[in-house]
Amino acid sequence: MTTLPATMFAIVQTHDGYSGAATGPALADAADWLAEAELPVPAPGPGQVLIRLRAATVNPSDIHFVKGEYGQPRVKGAAAGFEGCGDVIATGSGAEALQDQRVAFVAAGAGAWAEYVVTQAQMCIPLRSDISDEDGAAQIVNPLTAMAMVDIAREAGDAFVVSAATSQLGKLMCSLGRDLGLKPIALVRRAEAVESLKQVGAAEVLVTGDPKITQQFAAISTALKPRVFLDAVADQLSEQLFCAMPNGARWVCYGKLSSDLPRLTQMGQLIFMRKRIEGFWLTRWMMDTPLADQMRVIAEVQARFADGRWKTDISERLALRDVLPNLASALKKSDGKVIITP
Ligand SMILES: NC(=O)c1ccc[n+]([C@@H]2O[C@H](COP(=O)([O-])OP(=O)(O)OC[C@H]3O[C@@H](n4cnc5c(N)ncnc54)[C@H](OP(=O)(O)O)[C@@H]3O)[C@@H](O)[C@H]2O)c1
Repeated sequence: MTTLPATMFAIVQTHDGYSGAATGPALADAADWLAEAELPVPAPGPGQVLIRLRAATVNPSDIHFVKGEYGQPRVKGAAAGFEGCGDVIATGSGAEALQDQRVAFVAAGAGAWAEYVVTQAQMCIPLRSDISDEDGAAQIVNPLTAMAMVDIAREAGDAFVVSAATSQLGKLMCSLGRDLGLKPIALVRRAEAVESLKQVGAAEVLVTGDPKITQQFAAISTALKPRVFLDAVADQLSEQLFCAMPNGARWVCYGKLSSDLPRLTQMGQLIFMRKRIEGFWLTRWMMDTPLADQMRVIAEVQARFADGRWKTDISERLALRDVLPNLASALKKSDGKVIITP
């Protein structure tokens, strides 16, 4: 029986509800939105587990959330952070099967940036022993989204477009696309990322700041006929590229990395070319996808991490007690995740 302390260190939200703004997942100073706190160690209720944190990842959704611009309201004084990995040290009724397991988890109401985390048992995935804690900490949100969205692309043709392709999710989708015999067309901001994206699996890589980007994209679009645009940027360039895509193309917006709000310039394409603009949210996918299909996807995700086809690139590791002063500068580094450890 594990003896638990009465309190734990946590990084907590300092605002309630929504902000009404859409400024993107950048931080000037973490202290604008977060604070350090000593909280009571939570107790698991029915169907819940208590996890001792090993590692948490920092995703753009965490930053949107603490700034009040995510799909659920903030709770002032509650711990931040959605995703991580740790050991189940106590269970509520109905969740006993997870006792003592090392799991990847999502804390749906947030709470991962703390020494101890309570979440629903159904939001936990027992981890294979050959998966590291750091890969385990980023095992759910991006990998499941990558699997689900590449599946959408695969049903629509051989080629698909991925923006912010240097993001962890972008890289997962390019390599999965290549492995499935598809042709990912990657959009990146940094010219120096072109070669590495090709190695990851992109068939074509375009640099968004290139003055000829729209002509370059139009030529590739004519040749490869991508019918799905998996877009985490959603700015005016995205709209222009969507307009250059062929009949029946779908602009699937799943992130808002840019704070620029695009203007629709060619409404006729929606009418005459059967083009569609839609969203994707993993939370909705999990609600709508039968459990057996989710289990198959989860097994494939773990297999890909275990055999090295996928990995989590890490730009910085922060101890929980260093998050407040150092998170903003850590997030400015390109090409990797910030990992938080207790
Ligand atoms: N809808 C869903 O269910 C769902 C699920 C998972 C993730 N997402 C979204 O997927 C996106 C990627 O997530 P991630 O965890 O893979 O991100 P990440 O690894 O943290 O990487 C984000 C990268 O995007 C690039 N970027 C940032 N701002 C940008 C901008 N304004 N324009 C273009 N590129 C920009 C940066 O790369 P460079 O510095 O190299 O340009 C940055 O490193 C996020 O928008 C996230 O919210 C959505």
